[in-house]
Amino acid sequence: MSYLAGKHIVLGLSGGIACYKAAELCRALVKEGASVQVVMTEAAEHFITAVTLQALSGRPVFTSQWDSRTSAGVDNNMAHINLSREADAIVVAPASADFMAKLLHGRADDLLSLMCLARPLDTVPLILAPAMNREMWSHPATQRNVTQLAADGAMVLDVGAGEQACGETGDGRMLEADQLLYDIGRCFAPKRLAGRRVLVTAGPTYEAIDPVRGLTNRSSGKMGFAIAQAAHEEGAEVCLVAGPVALPTPRGVRRTDVRSAQEMQAAVQSHADDASIFVAAAAVADWRPAHSAEEKIKKDGSGEVPALSFVENPDILAGVAASERARSGALYCVGFAAESHNLLEHAQAKRLRKGVPLLVGNIGPATFGQDDNALLLIDDSGSKEFGPASKLSLARQLIGEIAKRLPSLPA
Ligand code: CTP
Repeated sequence: MSYLAGKHIVLGLSGGIACYKAAELCRALVKEGASVQVVMTEAAEHFITAVTLQALSGRPVFTSQWDSRTSAGVDNNMAHINLSREADAIVVAPASADFMAKLLHGRADDLLSLMCLARPLDTVPLILAPAMNREMWSHPATQRNVTQLAADGAMVLDVGAGEQACGETGDGRMLEADQLLYDIGRCFAPKRLAGRRVLVTAGPTYEAIDPVRGLTNRSSGKMGFAIAQAAHEEGAEVCLVAGPVALPTPRGVRRTDVRSAQEMQAAVQSHADDASIFVAAAAVADWRPAHSAEEKIKKDGSGEVPALSFVENPDILAGVAASERARSGALYCVGFAAESHNLLEHAQAKRLRKGVPLLVGNIGPATFGQDDNALLLIDDSGSKEFGPASKLSLARQLIGEIAKRLPSLPA
């Protein structure tokens, strides 16, 4: 279930070429189950028509503070009051340099700025998605305005870098619709992990036999990536150590790519000292070839097959769980168990063997590569089932369960 479902978003457009992305954002918000009321400045109407946004939002667009149409079911001819009282959030995308300068001074000579000024500060977040030429963005005046707007309670999103409509290259592009969608949705997530650092491992490991062959497993990394996203949504700083997977990095998450179990262990060790939660969702190879050949192993025509011998990989989770910080409660460790049968029995035994307070069991062959999963959470008080559901929905529930079990932060 999306954090945006059932929310009412007032989407404001000020003037800028990025108005075309606002159309995509409007559609995406509606798809997530939000209702969208579009408000446009006169400048925005030079870039995109109200007709497009009315069609995408399914509601007539407001453009003038003198518009006497009924808004929010009220006939008082005060669109700026009615629209802002009805909103769960006001999102201005694009927010032009001029529009932000105007907001900064509390000026209110058109409907959008009037509505931003009239918003109830404590209950209706104002989210600004800047969009402008790189020189305009880096100008001290704009940067000063951004700082002050944030201090005044607005949430000013970052900008993208790259080729700009004017032909120049640099910072100042408006974020893409999917990035905006994530940032807006995240506003509505509870922030039970604010102030915490979360370390997550995800995906398989790859153990090389020679430069072209290796051993791996069918883990896709989707569950671990969903956990990293869910932790970030809840306000954590997240570091994701990923084995070889073909997944995009969740927004706001710091990612380190590794290949083998030994590389994963080194990456985990370098981040574990800062973390307050460690979730080991990776399917780490238990063994690796005792020798990895420098050159490709060739058939010599004799029909003889190469003899492979293995050595055991380090147990990353058990090692972290045995550390001083984990034993003192400063680092909360969560393990996973990918089993093929007897889930409860194996997972209970694994929790004790790994020395972790919480273990999450799932049936590996049923979930590897899929978007859905079912989880069995096991702690010292028993077990509880979650799902079947999407991996993101389960990850959000798991983060909620972890948050409940954490010692509170020092005041
Ligand atoms: N794990 C780890 N390092 C390893 C093996 C596993 O950190 N070398 C972690 C996994 O990330 C997971 C948990 O330990 O959180 C259990 O992994 P799993 O593969 O289910 O269990 P194993 O310990 O490998 O036991 P078995 O293969 O016998 O079931």
